[in-house]
Parts: sequence; structure tokens; C-alpha cells
Amino acid sequence: MGLKIGELKSGNFDIDKPVLLYDSENHKIFWVGSSENHIFRCNAYLVVSEKGNVLIDPGGVLHFNQVKKRVTEVLGDPSKVTHIVSHHQDPDVSSSIPMWFKINPDVTLITTPRTKVLLPYFGFDREKVKWLDVSPLDDTILDLGNGNGLLFLTSPFLHFPDAFVTYDIGAKVLFSSDIFAAIQPKWQLVVTDMERHKKDMMYFHVYYMASQKALKYFVDKVKPFPIDAIVPQHGSIIPKEYVEEAFGFLANLRCGIDLLTKESPVKSVMDELFGDI
Ligand SMILES: [Fe+2]
Ligand SMILES: [Fe+2]
Repeated sequence: MGLKIGELKSGNFDIDKPVLLYDSENHKIFWVGSSENHIFRCNAYLVVSEKGNVLIDPGGVLHFNQVKKRVTEVLGDPSKVTHIVSHHQDPDVSSSIPMWFKINPDVTLITTPRTKVLLPYFGFDREKVKWLDVSPLDDTILDLGNGNGLLFLTSPFLHFPDAFVTYDIGAKVLFSSDIFAAIQPKWQLVVTDMERHKKDMMYFHVYYMASQKALKYFVDKVKPFPIDAIVPQHGSIIPKEYVEEAFGFLANLRCGIDLLTKESPVKSVMDELFGDI
């Protein structure tokens, strides 16, 4: 019962199957992402509960068949997905959404107002969709029954202006989308070497995230929540023992417009934080 992430550090699981991350009565979380061997590997997650089955950042068209296969293994039938969370409209996060609507047109799509404007350009009729709008007041909750629920928190300019993240209240898991993402030549499901992982996160954030100010604003917002794992859309899951370190690292990381110099953003941050590459 509870969080399985510690047990998954060994890598002793079948990556071609859904991977159980959290297990309690009427509430489970599975990794259902892509096993493609790529530095920009995409994670997707499925929250299974009494009141609904929520697919988080379903992924791109390229990975639809893989994600669908894993979801089907968990639910028996992919049409049992009741909600899709789209944290922003990037193709690697959301371009498969029309394919999910073909499986179940009744799926509720959860996103922010500005993401809602853009998602239909992947090819679906905005008028036919059930939407759940994420409020900028950070008070939108999807009730999962038995005291469980998903709370949606905006993450301005990380990296889309109206991006957001999802906090699983019962499991104490933060689905962080591109925030805390990493570019990893050698992917593993769970971080075991945080020093290495900081560098992998840095490669991603210096280019994609708006500024250190935006990162600090976000970290200050989520820090008060008890968080047992950060599960991003790229790279490894950050287990509880590294959560505080990850917060400290991102809150102080210069990135995006902080690095508008002729020098490479990677080089300027590397020299500052890690010494020579
Ligand atoms: Fe993105
Ligand atoms: Fe992404």
C-alpha cells in the first residue's frame, strides 16, 4: 500500500507495461508513458479512482498507441478514461487528445482558459467537448471520492503563460508537467543520483523556462504542500528525499530571459553552478 517509488529505484520492473507508482484502496497511480529510448522521453500518468480515471498529459500522436496499450492493461477498456488533464498545449503533451475523444467523446478535458483556446487546433470541435476550467485562483479540485482529489495549481510562464500542475491530495504526489523535467541520455524511472539529476534538469530549464523569478514564484506556491514525489512529464521521478533539494535548486536557477547574453545559456549556468563542463 502507499507509494511504491522507493521500490522502483532498482529498475526491477517491466517498462513495456504500466508501472504502479501508488496503491491504496480506491486510489492508484500508474506510469503509462513512452518507453522510447530518447533524451526527451515523455511520461504520462493514469490516476485510477472510485469516481473517475484521469489521464495526465496523455502525450503526442507518436506515442498514442503505447499509452493506449498501457491504459487498456490497467482499465481493461480505454473508453473508461473519464478525464484528461492537459497541463499545456505542447504537441508532446497534448496532440493525441483528438484520438482519445474518438475512443470516448464524453471525456472531460481539464485545462486553463488560455490552453483551452489552443487545444482545439489539434483537430476537435471545442463546442462538443466537456471542459473543466482550471481557475487562476488555485481552488479547482476534482473529487476522486473517499477523501481523495486532484488540486490544480497554475504555474505562470513555466513554460506556457497559463501552464498549470496537478497535486494529488491523497497520494501527496505533484504532477509537475515540464517543471522538474530533465533531459537524460540515460533515462531511469526514479532519481538515484541527485547531483547528476540537477545537471539534467538544468539542461531542460535554462532553455524552456521563462525566468528564475517565475520558478521561485512557483516553488513558493507548492512548497507548503506535503509532497512525497514529484512526477514530471520528461525525465525521472523525484522521490521524497530529494524534493526539498529540487525545490532549492529550481528556486535559484537562472534561466530563460535571465540568460539573454551572447554566451550559451548552458555554459553560463554550468560555470556558475558546477564549474567547467
Ligand atoms: Fe512543454
Ligand atoms: Fe514536455
